[in-house]
Amino acid sequence: MITVRKAREEDIIAVTELERQCFSRPWSYQSFVFELQSGDSWFSVALMDGEIIGFAVLHRFVDEGELFNIAVSEKMRGRGVGDRLLCDIIEGAKKHELKKIFLEVRKTNEPAKSLYKKHGFEVCGLRRNYYDDPKEDAIIMEKRVFEDRKEENP
Ligand SMILES: CC(C)(COP(=O)(O)OP(=O)(O)OC[C@H]1O[C@@H](n2cnc3c(N)ncnc32)[C@H](O)[C@@H]1OP(=O)(O)O)[C@@H](O)C(=O)NCCC(=O)NCCS
Repeated sequence: MITVRKAREEDIIAVTELERQCFSRPWSYQSFVFELQSGDSWFSVALMDGEIIGFAVLHRFVDEGELFNIAVSEKMRGRGVGDRLLCDIIEGAKKHELKKIFLEVRKTNEPAKSLYKKHGFEVCGLRRNYYDDPKEDAIIMEKRVFEDRKEENP
């Protein structure tokens, strides 16, 4: 059975290993510990039979959030784990009453772009040569999450 819950300190070694498998410039163990201990982060993990199979990290900047990271282990992709993690992150953003979530994604990362579009993210910008290994542009995407009354009824 697949479950999604908030990350704990004992998850970080497995999360760091999964990060290393998924990205050419992986985050360090210490970066994940920092996010875990930050009061401004929403850090979720997905597990199957006690094994970490995915994670996602949202960081709050005042009333907006940035999706720093989301990944699912290669063998578990295409089974709805990314969907569940992103739903959990969006719920977290709603609880924190964040107005928007931003993210950056490699221009050619079709699975991730498709996942984000499915969850209501729209392209709002481009950062040229943002990524290394290989050098690539980043697409910036945003999703409106929570609108306060003033904005709903101006
Ligand atoms: C992006 C990623 C997290 C998706 O996780 P996943 O568990 O495979 O995704 P799901 O099975 O929940 O699929 C959800 C949606 O993602 C999109 N998607 C997933 N795999 C896809 C693929 N191979 N091609 C196109 N779209 C895909 C689809 O929109 C899918 O919805 P659908 O099934 O209704 O078509 C996963 O591919 C991954 O870990 N990639 C490597 C790390 C990465 O690039 N992270 C993003 C950094 S910005």
